[in-house]
Amino acid sequence: MSEYVEIFEMGPRDGLQNEKRQIPTAEKIGLVDCLSQAGFKRIEVASFVSPKWVPQMADSGDVLAGITRANGVSYAALTPNMRGFDGAVAAKADEIAIFGSASEGFSKANINATIAESLERFVPIMEAAKSISLPVRGYVSCVTDCPYDGPTPPEKVAEVAKHLFDAGCYEISLGDTIGQGTPETITAMLRAVLDVVPADKLAGHYHDTAGRALANIEASLALGVRVFDAAVGGLGGCPYAPGAKGNVATEAVNARLVELGYDTGLNTEILTQAAEMARSMRVEG
Ligand code: HMG
Ligand code: MG
Repeated sequence: MSEYVEIFEMGPRDGLQNEKRQIPTAEKIGLVDCLSQAGFKRIEVASFVSPKWVPQMADSGDVLAGITRANGVSYAALTPNMRGFDGAVAAKADEIAIFGSASEGFSKANINATIAESLERFVPIMEAAKSISLPVRGYVSCVTDCPYDGPTPPEKVAEVAKHLFDAGCYEISLGDTIGQGTPETITAMLRAVLDVVPADKLAGHYHDTAGRALANIEASLALGVRVFDAAVGGLGGCPYAPGAKGNVATEAVNARLVELGYDTGLNTEILTQAAEMARSMRVEG
């Protein structure tokens, strides 16, 4: 039996959040329903953030209400504060994610808080989630480079990752938000994080701006990471990280993992179909 490596599908959230055209809710639901048949265990479909900050995600509640939920798939949503938490719970998200940064510049630009303030803001979310046994994932952004502050010290990533892990996040997703990481900087960052969070509680979330995401995934595999975030069609980017391109494309990650002898449990034909669907959503309708 080949070893299982999980791809956490990000397309409906990280993939679409930066699209300029307001994508009709029905199209988003169609994409999620297609992805639900591909064999993913987790799909990030929604984001309960301020619609003034990210207008594209304003219909997140309607997306969660409209999808046909597949057995065994966890449908995830981002929650920056208690208001977002309440929205995600009302929409019956199966899990939520809090998102922090290892760099002050991005933290301020993305969630209008210092790193310390953001960690304080997450406390009531963690408490509320725990009281209803809702799993919480934690993101750390800018794990190698920040569009505002330059290179990120690995120790800072480890500090924020440990904080989120100790606070109760079941997994820490390490974001190369602007896709400037290299196998060397990713390795140095992971070595620091692995001192404080075990490999089986980590995920790699690599954007593909410089075309190095697959190489960064291989570097991470070598250090024991077995979960990777990716978006079908390679869509996406963060509105608060200028120049950031999309997550690495799911179909490319899947092909490389299979080539390396890993089992991803994904149906290639459905992935291809979903990638076409996602790419067509980028075109002005
Ligand atoms: P703020 O302006 O400091 O907060 O924003 P505020 O409390 O003053 O609220 C401002 C307005 O938003 C108010 O409305 C609130 O009611 C409303 P007004 O009174 O002006 O009409 N509001 C909300 N509305 C709906 N849902 C909410 C909510 N909260 C406040 N939850 C805030 C602070 C965190 C809200 C804002 O900065 C925000 O929404 N930021 C999110 C930015 C974002 O979504 N970025 C992309 C996702 S992160 C990412 O892509 C990186 C990742 O992929 C990993 C990686 O790649 O590294 C995860
Ligand atoms: Mg991202």
